[in-house]
This record gives sequence, C-alpha cells and structure tokens, in this order.
Amino acid sequence: MEHDVKDLSLADAGKARIEWADRDMPVLASIRERFEVEKPLDGVRISACLHVTTETANLMRTLKAGGAEIVLAASNPLSTQDDVAAALVEHYGIRTYAIKGEDTETYYTHIDAAIEFKPQMTMDDGADVVGRIHADFPEALEHIIGGTEETTTGVIRLKAMAADGALKYPIVAVNDADTKHLFDNRYGTGQSTLDGVIRATNRLIAGRTVVVSGYGNCGRGIAERAEGHGANVIVLEVDPLRALEAVMDGYRVMPAVEAAAHCDIWITVTGDLNVIDVDSFAAMKDGAIICNSGHFNAEINIPRLREMSVSSREVRPLVEEFTFADGRTICLLADGRLVNLSCAEGHPASVMDMSFANQALCAEYMMANAASLEPGVYGVPVDIDKGISKLKLETLGVKIDTLTAEQEKYLASWEEGTC
Ligand SMILES: NC(=O)c1ccc[n+]([C@@H]2O[C@H](COP(=O)([O-])OP(=O)(O)OC[C@H]3O[C@@H](n4cnc5c(N)ncnc54)[C@H](O)[C@@H]3O)[C@@H](O)[C@H]2O)c1
Repeated sequence: MEHDVKDLSLADAGKARIEWADRDMPVLASIRERFEVEKPLDGVRISACLHVTTETANLMRTLKAGGAEIVLAASNPLSTQDDVAAALVEHYGIRTYAIKGEDTETYYTHIDAAIEFKPQMTMDDGADVVGRIHADFPEALEHIIGGTEETTTGVIRLKAMAADGALKYPIVAVNDADTKHLFDNRYGTGQSTLDGVIRATNRLIAGRTVVVSGYGNCGRGIAERAEGHGANVIVLEVDPLRALEAVMDGYRVMPAVEAAAHCDIWITVTGDLNVIDVDSFAAMKDGAIICNSGHFNAEINIPRLREMSVSSREVRPLVEEFTFADGRTICLLADGRLVNLSCAEGHPASVMDMSFANQALCAEYMMANAASLEPGVYGVPVDIDKGISKLKLETLGVKIDTLTAEQEKYLASWEEGTC
C-alpha cells in the first residue's frame, strides 16, 4: 500500500492513542457499528484532507467500516501526529500521506497523491483539495459526485467559489451544523488553544493579559477559557455586534495597536489576513507571546516581523524569539500555524465525536443524494444535526423533558394571547 509517513515503528503507540480517543467518541462508534452492517459507502473512493490526529483516525475507521476506500492527506504541515499516521497505515490499512513538519512542497505532493486517487468524494478541512482540483486537476472533476468541508475558513472559500460560479460539485458545509460549530469551534478550540500555548511556553496564565483577535465561535471559547485560567482578557473585533457582545460578556474591547501595549499573550482566531501587523509589532509590549489558532498561518504578518527584527532564535521547540533594534523581544509560536494542533493535540475526542459524526453521516447523505444536488454549498440536514445532539446527550447520560401534546399545540398556534 502506498503511503508517506515518518516512521512505521511508531504504529503501536499510535494505535493505543487512537483507541484511547475512541473511548470518548461513542456517537461515532455507534455510527461505525451501523456502517459495518449496512455498508452505505461500499466501494466509494474518498480523498480526505484533515488534521491527522487520533480523532481523525477514528473517522477514517468509520468510513472504512462503511465500505469506503480512503486516502488521507494532512490538512496542515504541522498538525500531523506521526504515531497516528503510522498506525493508520500499519494497523488500519488507510493510505496516509502526512509527516509533521513537512515543507510546503511535500504538503502539496501529499494533497496531489489524494487527488491522483481519483476520488468520488472529497472531505476537506480548509478547502485545499477542492481548490487544487478546480485550479490544477480539472480532469479529476469527472469522477467526483460531492464532498464535505470541516471548517469556517473552508466554507467561506467554497461559498466564494460558488458565488463566482466556479464550484463544480455539491459540498456539505459540516462546519455549519450546530452540533459542530457551537461545540467544536467554541469548547474544542477554547480548551486546546490554551493547552497549546501552555505546552509550548509553560507560562502561567493567571494574572496575565491575554488578547484574543476575533470573537466568533472560536474566539468566544478562547476568551472564556483564558478568563477561567485567571487572565485579564482583551477582545479585538471588527464586527460591531460581536464587539458589543464581548463588552457585555465583560471583556475590555479596543483597537489592535492599543492592545499591543498591554498584551502578554496574543491569540488570533479570525480567518483573516495580517491581523497582527507592523503597527502592532512596533507598539508591542516587551516579551509578548503571539500565536494563531485560525485556519491559515496568514493572521500574523510573519514576513514583516522577520524584516523588522534584528535577530531570531528558537528558545524552545516551536517558540521563536524575535529581537528588535530597541531591545524588545516577541515570541512567535509554531510559525503562526494552528497553535492547538501544532503545540498540543487539537480538540479533545469528546467534542470531535460530534464533528466527525457529522462528517460520517454527511458522507452517507452525499452518496444517497448527490445525483439530485446542483453544484453549491449545502447545510447539514436538520435531522442529522438534531439526531447527533440527541445521541450525544444519551451517551452523556443526560435526560431532558419532551413537549406535551398540549404544549405542542400551544406553541404552534397564534390565537392565544394574554390570559
Ligand atoms: N484551531 C482550530 O482547531 C479551529 C477550529 C475551528 C475553526 N478554526 C478556524 O478559526 C477561524 C475562526 O473560526 P470561527 O468559527 O470562530 O469564525 P467566525 O466567523 O465565527 O469568527 C471570526 C471573527 O473574527 C472577526 N474578525 C475578522 N477579521 C478581524 C480582524 N482583522 N480583527 C479582529 N476580528 C476580526 C470576525 O468579525 C468574526 O467575528 C477560522 O479560520 C476557522 O477555520 C480553527
């Protein structure tokens, strides 16, 4: 079986960790059991481009149980867990192309391997496979019936392609499921981003000023978790409504350049470009730590940071210290790549259980419905989303009330008013 991973001797360690994650992914496990019997993806070729983590491995096992043939490529050069990549090849028979720290050329060679597999379905995290197929491999479109997309940035790219009339097949925006973005983006990114910062730096968060750029689903989670560690949190936003929400949630809100003078730790999570730029570097507090948890490493203007500084050195793994002519230093984590996946292990399994249950069920949905879908970006069907929240509650042992017939009638009526 073709593959490109770092070291197959890591496979047993990877398998043990994959099984550990699986214990906290009961919804996905129940889907896998059904897929094993029903084989809804029988013989379907899927090219997946996802972060190669223990949770992703359990998704790959589920798709395979459903009968799919899969190639998996990394969706980020720094997020691969090499033991997991080895286990996928050695123990689970999944063609995997992913090496932590791979250069950009290798990253795209791996994506190209996934495209050369002639997929019928794509499963993307950031839309790099879809983008590359449309730009450089249009002949691959001939075999493709549909796809899924995992993250906010990928959905934004796909919607831009659809608006230009450039998108040539239907794709389900898994990110837009409530059981994905309200939990994965918020609680997953919140916890794992702080985890990444702490593992990389071993700095105490309590009493520090943490600046969070972007108060979307991810930013809210990061701000909450930083506050929980005892940080003074400053939120930066460009959307007045979200800025107002941050104010009402009790955070200080101000422009970036102003925050730069206060920040001990600055985390970007906007999906935008050059959110920390030259003016902020110039105003930044000595010793500040800067990092990114948004999808691409474009949120910090790293080329300009390199130009502005007089020297740089690695002070700890994945911690690069830049020194300016005036003696100030700034530490950049993980070369501006997703800090939670580069410096820690990404989201905990329990939350990926819901995200990847959506992926597995949307792959099944796509197989059953692609023929009737025009090219475009589609929401996750409500019954899939609601079904996952119901199942997740059950696995957590949480029971809730249901509407009585009288309440259902009342809520559906307009005749009754003030009593
Ligand atoms: N690290 C992870 O594991 C992980 C997980 C999920 C999503 N993501 C990525 O994180 C990013 C954010 O995702 P989200 O779901 O929170 O998106 P979102 O659209 O809900 O929120 C982004 C927010 O950033 C704000 N923003 C944009 N430009 C800004 C700027 N220059 N300064 C300040 N604020 C700005 C927007 O107004 C918006 O409120 C995306 O790139 C997404 O793909 C990462």
